[in-house]
Amino acid sequence: MVSQAMADPVADSLLEYRKAFPALEECVHFISHSLGCVPAQAKDDLGEFFELWRTRSITAWSDWLPEVDRAAARIAKIISAPPGTTIMNQNVSTITSILASCFDYAAPRNKVVYEGLQFPTVSYVWQAEQRRGARCVLVPSPDGLTIDADALCAAIDEETLLVPISHVVFSSGFIQDARKVCDRARQVGAHVILDCYQSVGTLPIDVVDLGVSFACGGSVKYLCGGPGAAWLYVRKDLIEQFAPRVTGWFGNEAPFAFTMPDQSYAESIWRFMGGTPAVAALYQARAGHTLIGEIGVRRIRDKSLVMTQKCIDWVDELGMKLNTPRAPEQRGGSIVFDFPSAADVCRELNRRKFFCDHRPGVGIRIAPHFYTKSEEIDLFFAELKKIRGGTGR
Ligand SMILES: Cc1ncc(COP(=O)(O)O)c(C=O)c1O
Repeated sequence: MVSQAMADPVADSLLEYRKAFPALEECVHFISHSLGCVPAQAKDDLGEFFELWRTRSITAWSDWLPEVDRAAARIAKIISAPPGTTIMNQNVSTITSILASCFDYAAPRNKVVYEGLQFPTVSYVWQAEQRRGARCVLVPSPDGLTIDADALCAAIDEETLLVPISHVVFSSGFIQDARKVCDRARQVGAHVILDCYQSVGTLPIDVVDLGVSFACGGSVKYLCGGPGAAWLYVRKDLIEQFAPRVTGWFGNEAPFAFTMPDQSYAESIWRFMGGTPAVAALYQARAGHTLIGEIGVRRIRDKSLVMTQKCIDWVDELGMKLNTPRAPEQRGGSIVFDFPSAADVCRELNRRKFFCDHRPGVGIRIAPHFYTKSEEIDLFFAELKKIRGGTGR
């Protein structure tokens, strides 16, 4: 029997934020692990960017550039980072390349250790670093869904330079034991880069408490900010220790002095910047960031746990294979499940505006968010059952 999970008044109180997302009334939006719903305010914020351009031409930069710091401050609030430790960039791949360019791989400390379930884009960057001397060590998953933190820690030794891991595994929703990995990395003098793309906005993050050297993520998913507004956190004491080779004039201490020929890095977090920031994306992301900061991720997480449990109940009821951990402390904001015709059913669900996605080998991924109504979970699985036909099995 499917539980009546949303009787909890704390969880339901988040539905007051639903009105900020009118697009939700035209679909069942279970895709926030991939693309968060657009807040109506994003249109006005993008309009503000446009009006600044239209009315102020080149002088718009006096508002556009500070938006980079304003966006970074909004992220800092969400990940509990101190002021001046976050900066915006376009995507996690670029951020990873910037971080990689901070290091050389002088033997023996040249190992880059990460999990076999890493998001591909991050792995591609580190594999390419092997041309510069990095030695990548991938720790295989015991089951294709989870990560054995002890095995990962065992691979981290005195020869390890970097440990670029994801906080939550994109394909299964498994929460990695980031604290354990950070503790082990610290013991041997290695740096953890925590990719929080699948956790930010749905799982509380305290980058300082975790003890990561670097963290990054984007705004496309649970932050409801759309593409182009990725972020980087650097531990305060590390900021001035690095001089990224992947750089540009906005990483300079005085970009508008146009000094030549060498880079003279900014003392601040801006030294991790490259060329001209894509400011329109930051206006676009403002409403999502602001709302998540206002609601507080703890409350979002409390509601998410209730809703993902309800999804699990449905998966069990329909006899599908659950590919997300059942234990609440091990599952992030998404639920992944599989059955033989899952890819086709997913395509049809999307055609009917029940938005979800499918990943090879693991099946359909769904994620309710703070704006989800409990009854939408029933609607989603009832539709899925209809498409599969008969009993839904
Ligand atoms: C864990 C993780 N990292 C990174 C990305 C994407 O990286 P990028 O911003 O380079 O597109 C995703 C998903 O899009 C992801 O789930």
